[in-house]
Amino acid sequence: MAAMKQLALRSAFKTASFHFGSHQLPLRRNYVRAFSAAIMSPPSMAVVYDQHGPPDQLTRLVEFPPVEIKAHDVCVKMLAAPINPSDINRIEGVYPVRPVPPAVGGYEGVGEVYAVGSGVNGLSPGDWVIPSPPSFGTWQSYIVQEQSVWHKINKDTPMEYAATVTVNPLTAFRMFKDFVQLNPGDAIVQNGATSMVGQCIIQLARIQGVHSINIIRDRAGADEVKENLKKLGADEVFTESQLDVKKVKELLGSLPEPALGFNCVGGNAATLVLKFLRSGGTMVTYGGMSKKPVTVSTSSFIFKDLSLRGFWLQKWMSSDKADECRDMIDQLLGLMRDGKIKYDMELVPFKDFHIALDKALGKQGSNPKQVLIF
Ligand SMILES: NC(=O)c1ccc[n+]([C@@H]2O[C@H](COP(=O)([O-])OP(=O)(O)OC[C@H]3O[C@@H](n4cnc5c(N)ncnc54)[C@H](OP(=O)(O)O)[C@@H]3O)[C@@H](O)[C@H]2O)c1
Repeated sequence: MAAMKQLALRSAFKTASFHFGSHQLPLRRNYVRAFSAAIMSPPSMAVVYDQHGPPDQLTRLVEFPPVEIKAHDVCVKMLAAPINPSDINRIEGVYPVRPVPPAVGGYEGVGEVYAVGSGVNGLSPGDWVIPSPPSFGTWQSYIVQEQSVWHKINKDTPMEYAATVTVNPLTAFRMFKDFVQLNPGDAIVQNGATSMVGQCIIQLARIQGVHSINIIRDRAGADEVKENLKKLGADEVFTESQLDVKKVKELLGSLPEPALGFNCVGGNAATLVLKFLRSGGTMVTYGGMSKKPVTVSTSSFIFKDLSLRGFWLQKWMSSDKADECRDMIDQLLGLMRDGKIKYDMELVPFKDFHIALDKALGKQGSNPKQVLIF
């Protein structure tokens, strides 16, 4: 957790005290003049919230004044950053680790180095970097932070993939490694298969020769969604209502009973994952999109000896995993450059933040991951 705290993006909090003061404009003029001999960042546009609560009501676009770029600092012009469910939860104040408001939203993204301090080695203007481990406050056009925050990446990576690699693909990657040893020919089952994590799980399974059984919500156009997931490598895709049968396993055909299940929904969708698991299987819960609890039958324990586990990337990363994390990111970016991992995204100009936010909040039905472009 200490590492996470250190990573709070300085520009967000340092400038906040100027910008949120009662004498905003005079303070800002004094600030620029006082540091006129120093190297300064450009002013930055940021999505700010002053208190916890409904993100669509509490977030606003604010201009921050320039920030001094000290000797070991790097000023990064952000290129792209996604809106993830956890970003929403942080603003709502329901996520276990969150910045204290006033704060800038966002937790991952990609940017281009704009300027470096006199003591910086190994990074130059024009390089692409991501904050790794991710850090709070990526929804702003310029960020000034110490060099150690930034991981230089290959510029051949599509920008929107670089912006989104750190949270969801990394979660899928880790969950394959940390729970059950899978061999080619084995199977996994998951709900929330349309999510970015879900799409990565399908493709990571395919790369390892592991079958995937996927559960999605009922919706208009479900057949098209199923087809798209099958193109990514899904073996089977079921809507929840299709699984409203006594023996779901009869739907498996020649596929083996899965040893590992992933749950990011809860409620009935989690029960369905449990029903598919083989005796002794493990379900890993990593999200709760339906906000409904996971209910487990007594027989699941007695007669099937199922194991229930949980995964939280932020906890995993906080345990001194910085180097390992960057290696995995490079590996994933390689798979993305080779077209072996892809997922649905909608790119939205930063000025249209609130349109993207409404979609991310599900106000307009199901939508692809919203990625802000600066
Ligand atoms: N534990 C960790 O470390 C960790 C790390 C990364 C992500 N996560 C969690 O993983 C989950 C997926 O994240 P993501 O960024 O990949 O998702 P995403 O791409 O933003 O997609 C959202 C997913 O949630 C589903 N969904 C939305 N509202 C729902 C509801 N009321 N009931 C059931 N399903 C609903 C959507 O289904 P439709 O397509 O049907 O709309 C879609 O599959 C989230 O819960 C997130 O917090 C956890």
